[in-house]
This record gives sequence, structure tokens and C-alpha cells, in this order.
Amino acid sequence: MVCGGLPAVFLLFLQRFVLIHGSTLIREDTPGSEMSVMEFGYDPNSIKGPRYWNMKWPSCGFSRQSPIDINTTYVTYGRPYEIRYNQENQDLPGNLINNGHTTAFYFEEKARYLYGVPGSPKDKFLLNELHFHFGNDRIHGSEHSINGQFFPIEVHMVHYNSKYRQPRIASMMPDGIIAVSVFLRIRSGPPNHVDTFIKTNIPRVKDPKGKAVKADLNPSLLLPFKRDFYTYRGSVSVPPCKNNIRWIIMKETRDISIFAYRAFLTLKTKEGEIISKYGNFRPIQDSSCNRLVEANFMY
Ligand SMILES: *[C@@H]1O[C@H](CO)[C@@H](O)[C@H](O)[C@H]1NC(C)=O
Ligand SMILES: [Zn+2]
Repeated sequence: MVCGGLPAVFLLFLQRFVLIHGSTLIREDTPGSEMSVMEFGYDPNSIKGPRYWNMKWPSCGFSRQSPIDINTTYVTYGRPYEIRYNQENQDLPGNLINNGHTTAFYFEEKARYLYGVPGSPKDKFLLNELHFHFGNDRIHGSEHSINGQFFPIEVHMVHYNSKYRQPRIASMMPDGIIAVSVFLRIRSGPPNHVDTFIKTNIPRVKDPKGKAVKADLNPSLLLPFKRDFYTYRGSVSVPPCKNNIRWIIMKETRDISIFAYRAFLTLKTKEGEIISKYGNFRPIQDSSCNRLVEANFMY
């Protein structure tokens, strides 16, 4: 998305138009209002696809949607933010599931927390789960992009503000959720701990109807060594797309082996389709030229 392209008013108009146009389409194509039981999907030509999410979930058409392209020209650099975790490099027990859209690892004890977060420096954000976005080639897969460049995988680590006690309650609050995002690249070479975790466990949750798999994961191994990041306020990137979360997008990437990468390509949706066929990344919603994106490093 090029900056200064479409003025915001026009975008609003466009959104309205799609909404009205779209609802006609629904009535004609899906008699009996199947929307109420319908799952969302990523096929761009399907009524379940990202373009139509806002018909069932109006908040997907609201402002401040994610993901965005981070055009580094428009970033505010050198903000004094430094996030920290209370614990590093520990294997943590949890359960890996396939929810039909991705595979997610839910930490059993919410013991690892992030602090020093922009906007809420005094609060503790407990790591609840992490999940992956990917595509069907080695170029696309991430949701966010940096200067138009995508990555094969994007990990989202979802944290909730401990003062709300439960992720579900926190998700309704303006300062409830922090998503830390890391881009993964594919490399050749021997597998590391994360590769082994992925290769061993993901094939066991290929089918969303199967059981959760118990495993241990050290989440520090999915974070870059250097904690330079971009941050902005956006939305959850899946329905209902609530626009109340803060994103922390790591500048440095991590690698996974090609063997681990291939495990993602076997995951299936509830309809038995391969998730990677259309990928599970929402298209770019905006550019940083329209948003406040800050970085904790100098340009
Ligand atoms: C970033 O913004 C600059 C200045 O408006 C523009 O020339 C460039 O094309 C943008 N980059 C991308 C990837 O959209
Ligand atoms: Zn995500």
C-alpha cells in the first residue's frame, strides 16, 4: 500500500459500499442466513473470505485494523521503550491445538510476563498463547510487512494484562492485550529446539478434530536476541477483529528449518482443506503513513 494514496474519507466510503454491496450478495448467494453458523476463512473469492468478514463481524470494518505495512519512512524512531520478561529460557508446559485456522500453543501456567510495555509501563502482561500465520510458498505467510516485504511465517505471542485476571475479560479492555510478533525465515542446517518442537508436535494436530497435544516449549527461543521493535495500536487479525490491542513487532527475525516449515503445510481446516492452500494471513489493512507507529531504536 502506497502512502498518501487514498484519503481516509474515501476509504470509509469504500467500506460502506462494500458493506451494502456485500449484504445483497449474501442474500442472493446464501439463502437461510447461514452466516450465523459460518466460520471465517481466507479464500479471497469465498463469502467467508477476509473481504466479507465485516458482514458477520462489523468490528472487522472498524478503524485501526491489523495487519499493516510498516513503511519505515513514517515510523517515529528512538522512543525509550524497553520491554522485559520476568523469566527467560525456560521450558514451559502447555497444550498444542489446531483450531481450524492455525495451530496454537496454550501455556498451562500463566507465569511468564512482559513488563515495561508502551502505554502501560506498570502492568504485567501474562503470556497466554502463541500461534502461527503462514502461506503456501516461502515468500508469503506473514500478516505484517516491512516496506512491502513479507516473510514465510509470523508468530504471534498473545499476552493479557494480569490486572484483569482472565484473557477473556482482558480482551474487552483498552489496555488488555499485547501481541508480540516475530517473523520467521527458513534456513537450511541442523534443527534446533524449536524445529524439533514443531516437527514432533504439529503433525499430531494436523486435524482440528483431534486431541490437544501436551508439550513443553521455551518461548524465548522464538524471540530475536536483539529486542528492537516497532509498536502501534491495532486490532486482532481474525474475527471479530476487535481494535483494542497493542502490537509489538520485532525488527529482527528468527529462523526455522525447512523441515519444520513443512509441518505447517500439512495442517487442515475443519472442512478438511489444507490451511496453507490460501494461507492464514489477513491482507494488509493499512499503511503506517496513516497510523502512529513508533520504534524503540534509531533509524
Ligand atoms: C513508503 O513511503 C514512501 C513515501 O511516501 C513511498 O515512496 C514508498 O513507495 C512507500 N513504500 C511502500 C513499500 O509502500
Ligand atoms: Zn495471529
